[in-house]
Amino acid sequence: MNFEYTGYAENILSRPGTGCTTTPSLPLDIAPLISSFPKTRYYGSKRRLLDWIYHALKGLPFNSVLDGFGGTASVSLLLKMMGKEVTFHDGLLFNTIAAQALLADKLPFKNIGEAHSFIDGIKPCRGFISKTFAGMYYTDKENRWLDGAATAIHELKSPAKRSVYLYCLFQACLKKRPFNLFHRANLNLRLNRDVTRSFGNLVTWETPFPVLMKAALPDVIKISKLATQPVTILPHGDIGRLNAGYDLVYLDPPYVSESKTSDDYLRRYHFLEGLSSYADWEDGLHNTSYIKSLQPRQYISEWQDKHTFRERLFDVISAHNQSIVALSYLAGAYPSEEEIADHFRQNFQHVSVLRKDFCHALAKEKKVELLFIGSNI
Ligand SMILES: C[S@@+](CC[C@H](N)C(=O)[O-])C[C@H]1O[C@@H](n2cnc3c(N)ncnc32)[C@H](O)[C@@H]1O
Repeated sequence: MNFEYTGYAENILSRPGTGCTTTPSLPLDIAPLISSFPKTRYYGSKRRLLDWIYHALKGLPFNSVLDGFGGTASVSLLLKMMGKEVTFHDGLLFNTIAAQALLADKLPFKNIGEAHSFIDGIKPCRGFISKTFAGMYYTDKENRWLDGAATAIHELKSPAKRSVYLYCLFQACLKKRPFNLFHRANLNLRLNRDVTRSFGNLVTWETPFPVLMKAALPDVIKISKLATQPVTILPHGDIGRLNAGYDLVYLDPPYVSESKTSDDYLRRYHFLEGLSSYADWEDGLHNTSYIKSLQPRQYISEWQDKHTFRERLFDVISAHNQSIVALSYLAGAYPSEEEIADHFRQNFQHVSVLRKDFCHALAKEKKVELLFIGSNI
């Protein structure tokens, strides 16, 4: 999919005291760093917008920063490379585990050979995944391999090793899924042979798990070589419970459509969340879910629901109004750009809104990304 860099089209909101930003060119030392960050097709990832976000944030006066809806940790990685004191947080455990792997300061094994031997040593077995998800997301043979992998990884004593292997396993699982999601039990889309597809990559889908897992290792190795100061990783949970006091709070919440309801992040990625706590997966299953999702979590679903989203978002912005708040959102979503800007003006003396045309990885049509920045400094 094409990614057009259209540069800034700034709209500085008309209010006295509103700040103004310029568009400096990307310094040579940051551009290659960003391009070496792990590639991802995570829903709403900011990976391909990092240079734009970098330009928007680099002139602001901050050291400590909270990445409150951290997702794939792409923005945390950027902030870390900028030399900031970063705190990562997300609502889901699997993202928190992946962040532990990607934001660590050193590799937890001697060399890549050690990691390859571990992956090659995984023995398939018939466990919870084989019994529960037959015919839904992966083939029977793959399910047995996944049971073996989850068992072996969770038996490891070192939390750092567990994080790296789980990160690699998540990447492999996503690559083998149509649309890189688990919101439909649609293994048949992958297995149908007599169809012409306009999506997906049959070669990757059919690549064995161990090969894809090994292919994710260089992501972690490359990033660990760029390590600067340590990052704080908070336990997963609701952003609403976090303390204020950071110099800057970056918010990248789920997008809520003006017109249609959509799956929340737990439903999109429930299988990875289950792999993260393999021993408790069975107890956490949602009994009536036809995709065998995990039981819904209110703090995740409320951030995807038009009835509750606006209040949750505005409460979080107000709770951090002593910090600089930077909010990523989408034009044309709910609430509107004007409503969000009004709320920023009620909380901050200086408000600016940056906009950028953008093609999302999982959507065909062009979108406009917004970045609201509010500050009382
Ligand atoms: C748009 S994504 C963030 C993408 C991220 N910036 C990146 O580049 O990968 C929104 C994230 O919000 C998380 N989330 C949803 N509800 C949450 C809540 N109540 N508290 C914290 N995180 C939540 C989801 O798990 C998801 O990772």
